[in-house]
Amino acid sequence: MANSRANSAGLDLHLELRRDLGRPRVRESVATGLREAVSTGRLAPGTTLPPSRALAADLGIARNSVAEAYAQLVAEGWLVARQGSATKVADHPAIPSARVKPAHTADRPLRYDLRAGFPDVTSFPRAEWLAAARAALAKAPPDSLSYGPPAGLPQLRSALSGYLARARGVRVTAASLAICAGFTSGLALVAAVLASYGFRTIGVEAYGHGRHRALLRDAGLQLVPLPVDEYGAVPAGLEQLDAVLLTPAHQFPVGVALSPDRRAQFASWAARTGAVIIEDDYDGEFRYDRRAVGALQALAPDHVIYAGTASKTLTPGLRLGWLVLPARLEPHAAERSSITHAQAAAVEQLTLAEFIETGRYDRHIRRRRLEYRRRRDRLVAGLAHRTPELRVSGMSAGLHTVVNLPDGVAEAEIIDGARSRDLAVDGLASYHIDDDSQPSALVIGYATPAPHAYSTTLARLFTTLGNT
Ligand SMILES: Cc1ncc(COP(=O)(O)O)c(C=O)c1O
Repeated sequence: MANSRANSAGLDLHLELRRDLGRPRVRESVATGLREAVSTGRLAPGTTLPPSRALAADLGIARNSVAEAYAQLVAEGWLVARQGSATKVADHPAIPSARVKPAHTADRPLRYDLRAGFPDVTSFPRAEWLAAARAALAKAPPDSLSYGPPAGLPQLRSALSGYLARARGVRVTAASLAICAGFTSGLALVAAVLASYGFRTIGVEAYGHGRHRALLRDAGLQLVPLPVDEYGAVPAGLEQLDAVLLTPAHQFPVGVALSPDRRAQFASWAARTGAVIIEDDYDGEFRYDRRAVGALQALAPDHVIYAGTASKTLTPGLRLGWLVLPARLEPHAAERSSITHAQAAAVEQLTLAEFIETGRYDRHIRRRRLEYRRRRDRLVAGLAHRTPELRVSGMSAGLHTVVNLPDGVAEAEIIDGARSRDLAVDGLASYHIDDDSQPSALVIGYATPAPHAYSTTLARLFTTLGNT
């Protein structure tokens, strides 16, 4: 058996082969290794292969064995060779049909997408982000590019604490802020810290993100569902809980705001009992009919872990999120993240700091708010016109809304109807802790399509709903 190493063409190619054989068998072994690499996708279509001399030297075999194996695979259609240029993997290699996984229509990505949870990723301000990255890198001290402090780079903690205090009403200092790789990684950190503190039970809104529930369970916490009504999560049975996870500004996905009374009830319960509230402020910047509801955290900063993300305001691929921690949890969180090193990338942290400091973040959010509001208005007006019997619920906020279906119409039926029109939509039941929802409804993520696709995507939704 032999592994290849860097060869004279500077290309590494890993091949397992038998060298203890006669030349025809060695050649066959090279050919088999290459076929395996192409058919499994390890060598992608178009990949340039090393010259036969270089690969032979790496493998410690005769050059002719490699040249003959290449020729054989060219003849079989796996590779292409042109006079004067390198041998490459064919664009459509002749993979035997038995090896090709049959396309499963149910798995096929649909062309039109109204699933919730995404911003319009085409709106990511690439040019402005690049300008901010350039400026940030030009002035970044060298040690900001090393293993950073577990709580994140001071530049971002300082910029964000100013923004969160000003725009979201959070009680925060740079010292109480910890940067994480998106809300999800922040929640994983918090769950681990709470579990290590002896917390056992956590209340979760009966409708929510399945991934977040899975993550809390993984940390060993026991989940207790809290019903959700038109005033948000119901603060019932709190005496059996050590913590709760809430989306107070805009319940995900039902879309209501936690009422002032309930905010006060949750806050005073936590203050009285030492329980912890995790506040997931995932889209609090997007409120269209009046000023955004400020953070619940301001009511009880010693008992609320405030969590935010750039996934909706900018784009999920940045993997940037933040936590504002009560003082008693800060050292534990810092200790934990210094072990895992699951932090956000330094360059992205520096860039977001620059983006905020130069006012670009605020300007970008204001532009997105206008656009998403227009989209929501078009959706609501279109539904009122074409299917006036359908009620839209959830307040005028965020990136999604809920369309309630008539009695007796199952979510699955509509989702299938949409699928047959190449349109992806989610049912409300898929967010329920027991996969159950009353009444049946769709969660429509109107931010998801690219601008040029929005009209067609809406038309498909209206046709689907019009045929119910
Ligand atoms: C309820 C909720 N919270 C938070 C997030 C953001 O998660 P992350 O910051 O890990 O992308 C999402 C994303 O879909 C969400 O739906």
